[in-house]
Amino acid sequence: MNARKLPSIRPAFDADAQNAAVAALRAGELVGMPTETVYGLAADATNGEAVARIYAAKGRPSFNPLIAHVADLAAAEKLVVFDPLSRRLAEAFWPGPLTLVLPKRADAGVSDLATAGLDTLAVRMPSHPAAHALLKAFGRPVAAPSANRSGHVSATTAAHVAADLGHAVSVILDAGASKVGVESTIVAATPRGLALLRAGGVPREAIEAVAGAPLEAVDLTDPEAPTAPGQLASHYAPGAAVRLGADEVRPGEALIAFGPELPRNAEAAVAMVNLSPRGDLIEAAARLFSALRELDGKAATIAVAPIPATGLGEAIADRLRRAAAPRP
Ligand code: TXA
Ligand code: MG
Repeated sequence: MNARKLPSIRPAFDADAQNAAVAALRAGELVGMPTETVYGLAADATNGEAVARIYAAKGRPSFNPLIAHVADLAAAEKLVVFDPLSRRLAEAFWPGPLTLVLPKRADAGVSDLATAGLDTLAVRMPSHPAAHALLKAFGRPVAAPSANRSGHVSATTAAHVAADLGHAVSVILDAGASKVGVESTIVAATPRGLALLRAGGVPREAIEAVAGAPLEAVDLTDPEAPTAPGQLASHYAPGAAVRLGADEVRPGEALIAFGPELPRNAEAAVAMVNLSPRGDLIEAAARLFSALRELDGKAATIAVAPIPATGLGEAIADRLRRAAAPRP
């Protein structure tokens, strides 16, 4: 029989429960975190392997960028660069259900996997006191998507989290039902002004009233929407071509390897990164974006060794396929 670890559902304001949650985050484990919008599946945003566990647990077939949750404005300032308008929004709506997508600071320390390799970072300061206490005690940014399995509705109670993701979390902090019940509103600062990326807990009108200008609507959840790469001014795509499923390295290519067995002719690669010499998909996901950055510019083509299409392998392949797609 498969002896699965049962999550411990603990009262969110209990001091021991908070300590256990902080310890779990420090150890790179996942925590069910209540927020005013929905429950989040929380991990240390600075720890690539912890972030990879989020994607593995959710069963997401791709690496969506994640929101970095912080306790206060000072913590947010260490991660992103605020322009005057975004700062005004933060001052008006934080803590609360508004997420701001801003240029990521070079020294933010957030894992490339959490931002899916983007140069921007989504930040949010939740108003839920249990989330605030956890973020304050942990002292680092926390990556947290909604705590549902991919394709399911968002979790608004601890029991939802346990049902969907109980096998993957160490501790679920139970604070009853989320008050807002829908996710945060996401606003991006773009060169053309503010863009509404997702409607959510703060109404558009309230944001426009503070901004003094209409929000451009860019619905990223609509597959038909014209989300041209570069619309957000910061989509990362390597300049090099990417050749997937390479069982040999061709002259002049750089190599992304996986596992103990290297493709034929690997020694001729102009540069190589092995995502996980021991063949671990969580470790591989954590290294993926930094590997692309490291090899980009070193060769016209990056050959990628075959990676199993199971678990996180599917999302890794998805991201690599996008990296390999011809640019407009
Ligand atoms: O209310 C919420 O925001 C909840 C709670 C847990 O805080 N979190 C949440 O996270 O809804 P998630 O991962 O389910 O949704 C985050 C959205 C995704 O659609 C993602 O594409 C977008 O934010 N996003 C994150 N970083 C981004 C970035 N740098 N640029 C554009 N979109 C980004
Ligand atoms: Mg979600």
